[in-house]
Amino acid sequence: MSIRLAILVSGRGSNMESILRAIKEGQLDAKVEIVLSNNPEALALPTARKYGVHAIAVDNQGLSRAEHEARVLKELSEYEIDFVVLAGYMRILTSNFLQKFKHKDGYFRVINIHPSLLPAFPGANAYEDAFKYGSLVSGITVHLADEKVDHGPILAQESFPRLEGDTLETFRQRGLAVEHKLYPKVLQSIAKHGIRLLPQEEMIRQ
Ligand code: GAR
Repeated sequence: MSIRLAILVSGRGSNMESILRAIKEGQLDAKVEIVLSNNPEALALPTARKYGVHAIAVDNQGLSRAEHEARVLKELSEYEIDFVVLAGYMRILTSNFLQKFKHKDGYFRVINIHPSLLPAFPGANAYEDAFKYGSLVSGITVHLADEKVDHGPILAQESFPRLEGDTLETFRQRGLAVEHKLYPKVLQSIAKHGIRLLPQEEMIRQ
Protein backbone atom coordinates (compact mmCIF):
# COMPACT_ATOMS: atom_id res chain seq x y z
CA MET A 1 0.00 0.00 0.00
CA SER A 2 1.29 3.42 -0.84
CA ILE A 3 1.84 5.51 2.28
CA ARG A 4 1.27 9.27 2.48
CA LEU A 5 4.02 11.13 4.31
CA ALA A 6 4.68 14.54 5.78
CA ILE A 7 8.41 15.13 6.26
CA LEU A 8 9.57 17.57 8.94
CA VAL A 9 13.08 19.01 8.60
CA SER A 10 15.26 21.72 10.13
CA GLY A 11 18.36 21.86 7.97
CA ARG A 12 20.27 20.21 5.15
CA GLY A 13 17.69 17.55 4.31
CA SER A 14 19.94 14.74 3.11
CA ASN A 15 17.65 12.11 4.68
CA MET A 16 14.62 13.78 3.16
CA GLU A 17 16.35 13.66 -0.22
CA SER A 18 17.18 9.95 0.20
CA ILE A 19 13.44 9.34 0.71
CA LEU A 20 12.43 11.47 -2.29
CA ARG A 21 15.05 9.75 -4.45
CA ALA A 22 13.87 6.28 -3.41
CA ILE A 23 10.29 7.24 -4.36
CA LYS A 24 11.45 8.64 -7.70
CA GLU A 25 13.44 5.49 -8.45
CA GLY A 26 10.48 3.25 -7.61
CA GLN A 27 12.09 1.72 -4.52
CA LEU A 28 9.64 3.25 -2.06
CA ASP A 29 5.88 3.11 -2.48
CA ALA A 30 5.05 6.44 -0.86
CA LYS A 31 3.91 9.95 -1.60
CA VAL A 32 5.35 12.96 0.19
CA GLU A 33 2.41 15.33 0.60
CA ILE A 34 4.34 18.11 2.27
CA VAL A 35 7.82 19.01 3.54
CA LEU A 36 7.72 21.42 6.43
CA SER A 37 10.59 23.18 8.18
CA ASN A 38 10.72 25.32 11.31
CA ASN A 39 13.72 27.05 9.72
CA PRO A 40 13.00 29.25 6.67
CA GLU A 41 16.67 28.96 5.62
CA ALA A 42 16.69 25.15 5.58
CA LEU A 43 18.43 23.83 2.47
CA ALA A 44 15.91 21.01 2.52
CA LEU A 45 13.15 23.34 1.25
CA PRO A 46 14.60 24.14 -2.21
CA THR A 47 15.74 20.52 -2.52
CA ALA A 48 12.19 19.26 -1.91
CA ARG A 49 10.80 21.69 -4.50
CA LYS A 50 13.29 20.30 -7.04
CA TYR A 51 11.44 17.01 -6.59
CA GLY A 52 8.13 18.76 -7.17
CA VAL A 53 7.06 18.50 -3.52
CA HIS A 54 5.13 21.25 -1.71
CA ALA A 55 7.66 22.64 0.81
CA ILE A 56 7.00 25.38 3.34
CA ALA A 57 8.54 26.98 6.41
CA VAL A 58 6.64 27.57 9.61
CA ASP A 59 9.15 29.70 11.47
CA ASN A 60 9.29 29.07 15.20
CA GLN A 61 11.01 32.39 15.96
CA GLY A 62 8.97 34.46 18.41
CA LEU A 63 6.37 31.74 18.94
CA SER A 64 5.77 29.61 21.98
CA ARG A 65 6.09 25.85 21.45
CA ALA A 66 2.30 25.52 21.61
CA GLU A 67 1.71 28.31 19.08
CA HIS A 68 4.29 26.90 16.68
CA GLU A 69 2.90 23.39 16.91
CA ALA A 70 -0.63 24.67 16.36
CA ARG A 71 0.50 26.27 13.11
CA VAL A 72 2.35 23.15 12.02
CA LEU A 73 -0.72 21.02 12.79
CA LYS A 74 -2.93 23.39 10.80
CA GLU A 75 -0.67 22.96 7.73
CA LEU A 76 -0.57 19.19 8.13
CA SER A 77 -4.35 19.01 8.56
CA GLU A 78 -4.73 20.00 4.90
CA TYR A 79 -3.60 16.47 4.00
CA GLU A 80 -4.46 12.88 4.75
CA ILE A 81 -1.19 11.75 6.30
CA ASP A 82 -0.34 8.20 7.26
CA PHE A 83 3.01 9.01 8.88
CA VAL A 84 4.90 12.08 9.99
CA VAL A 85 8.56 11.47 9.16
CA LEU A 86 11.13 13.40 11.19
CA ALA A 87 14.31 13.90 9.18
CA GLY A 88 16.66 16.08 11.20
CA TYR A 89 13.75 17.98 12.76
CA MET A 90 15.44 19.55 15.77
CA ARG A 91 12.30 20.41 17.74
CA ILE A 92 10.83 18.54 20.69
CA LEU A 93 7.28 17.40 19.96
CA THR A 94 4.69 17.79 22.70
CA SER A 95 2.23 15.16 23.76
CA ASN A 96 -0.54 17.27 22.19
CA PHE A 97 1.15 17.00 18.79
CA LEU A 98 1.76 13.26 19.12
CA GLN A 99 -1.84 12.59 20.21
CA LYS A 100 -3.05 13.95 16.87
CA PHE A 101 -1.29 11.01 15.21
CA LYS A 102 -2.27 8.27 17.64
CA HIS A 103 -2.90 4.90 16.02
CA LYS A 104 -5.66 2.68 17.43
CA ASP A 105 -2.94 0.23 18.56
CA GLY A 106 -1.55 2.89 20.88
CA TYR A 107 1.59 4.08 19.09
CA PHE A 108 2.06 7.44 17.42
CA ARG A 109 2.33 7.57 13.63
CA VAL A 110 5.48 9.65 13.91
CA ILE A 111 8.83 8.17 12.84
CA ASN A 112 12.31 9.46 13.65
CA ILE A 113 15.85 8.66 12.56
CA HIS A 114 18.65 9.14 15.05
CA PRO A 115 22.38 8.67 14.44
CA SER A 116 23.28 6.38 17.34
CA LEU A 117 22.36 2.99 18.69
CA LEU A 118 19.63 4.19 21.03
CA PRO A 119 19.33 4.34 23.99
CA ALA A 120 22.99 5.46 23.74
CA PHE A 121 23.65 9.10 22.85
CA PRO A 122 20.24 10.73 22.39
CA GLY A 123 20.22 14.45 21.58
CA ALA A 124 21.33 16.83 18.88
CA ASN A 125 25.03 15.81 18.67
CA ALA A 126 24.99 12.02 18.58
CA TYR A 127 27.86 11.56 16.08
CA GLU A 128 30.08 13.85 18.12
CA ASP A 129 29.04 12.29 21.41
CA ALA A 130 29.69 8.70 20.22
CA PHE A 131 33.00 9.70 18.61
CA LYS A 132 34.24 11.59 21.67
CA TYR A 133 33.17 8.76 23.94
CA GLY A 134 35.37 6.44 21.88
CA SER A 135 32.67 4.02 20.75
CA LEU A 136 34.19 1.46 18.38
CA VAL A 137 30.75 0.50 17.10
CA SER A 138 27.98 3.00 16.61
CA GLY A 139 24.89 2.95 14.46
CA ILE A 140 21.63 4.35 13.26
CA THR A 141 18.19 3.91 14.81
CA VAL A 142 14.79 4.36 13.18
CA HIS A 143 12.03 4.43 15.77
CA LEU A 144 8.51 5.56 16.53
CA ALA A 145 8.49 8.82 18.47
CA ASP A 146 7.10 9.21 21.97
CA GLU A 147 7.09 12.07 24.49
CA LYS A 148 10.80 11.70 25.28
CA VAL A 149 13.59 12.94 23.01
CA ASP A 150 15.00 10.30 20.62
CA HIS A 151 12.97 7.64 22.40
CA GLY A 152 10.21 5.19 21.51
CA PRO A 153 9.69 1.73 20.00
CA ILE A 154 12.59 0.74 17.75
CA LEU A 155 11.77 -0.21 14.16
CA ALA A 156 15.32 -0.85 12.90
CA GLN A 157 18.93 -0.43 13.85
CA GLU A 158 22.08 -0.79 11.79
CA SER A 159 25.58 -0.56 13.15
CA PHE A 160 28.73 0.85 11.61
CA PRO A 161 32.31 0.74 12.92
CA ARG A 162 34.70 3.43 13.93
CA LEU A 163 37.86 2.66 11.97
CA GLU A 164 41.46 3.45 12.80
CA GLY A 165 42.36 6.92 11.61
CA ASP A 166 38.74 8.12 11.58
CA THR A 167 38.09 11.79 12.16
CA LEU A 168 34.68 12.94 13.37
CA GLU A 169 33.95 13.83 9.75
CA THR A 170 34.83 10.41 8.23
CA PHE A 171 32.93 8.73 11.08
CA ARG A 172 29.88 10.93 10.37
CA GLN A 173 30.04 10.28 6.61
CA ARG A 174 30.08 6.51 7.20
CA GLY A 175 27.00 6.86 9.39
CA LEU A 176 25.17 9.15 6.98
CA ALA A 177 25.63 6.60 4.19
CA VAL A 178 23.87 4.08 6.46
CA GLU A 179 21.09 6.58 7.27
CA HIS A 180 20.39 7.22 3.60
CA LYS A 181 19.83 3.52 2.91
CA LEU A 182 18.08 2.60 6.15
CA TYR A 183 15.35 5.26 6.26
CA PRO A 184 13.86 4.52 2.80
CA LYS A 185 14.20 0.78 3.51
CA VAL A 186 12.26 0.99 6.78
CA LEU A 187 9.57 3.15 5.17
CA GLN A 188 9.20 0.66 2.33
CA SER A 189 8.82 -2.15 4.86
CA ILE A 190 6.05 -0.11 6.55
CA ALA A 191 4.38 0.49 3.17
CA LYS A 192 4.44 -3.26 2.54
CA HIS A 193 3.75 -4.77 5.95
CA GLY A 194 2.63 -1.92 8.22
CA ILE A 195 4.23 -1.23 11.59
CA ARG A 196 5.68 -4.39 13.13
CA LEU A 197 6.80 -4.12 16.72
CA LEU A 198 8.32 -6.76 18.94
CA PRO A 199 5.81 -8.17 21.43
CA GLN A 200 5.90 -6.04 24.56
CA GLU A 201 7.22 -8.84 26.79
CA GLU A 202 10.29 -9.22 24.61
CA MET A 203 11.23 -5.60 24.96
CA ILE A 204 13.58 -4.36 27.60
CA ARG A 205 12.65 -0.80 28.38
CA GLN A 206 13.93 1.77 30.78
C1 GAR B 1 20.84 13.33 10.58
O1 GAR B 1 22.13 12.81 10.90
C2 GAR B 1 19.79 12.80 11.54
O2 GAR B 1 19.99 11.46 11.89
C3 GAR B 1 20.01 13.72 12.72
O3 GAR B 1 20.16 14.99 12.14
C4 GAR B 1 20.80 14.83 10.88
C5 GAR B 1 20.00 15.58 9.84
O4 GAR B 1 20.67 15.58 8.60
N1 GAR B 1 18.92 13.67 13.65
C6 GAR B 1 19.07 13.77 14.96
O5 GAR B 1 20.14 13.98 15.50
C7 GAR B 1 17.78 13.60 15.79
N2 GAR B 1 18.08 13.67 17.16
P1 GAR B 1 19.89 15.81 7.25
O6 GAR B 1 19.12 17.13 7.43
O7 GAR B 1 20.94 15.93 6.20
O8 GAR B 1 18.97 14.65 7.06
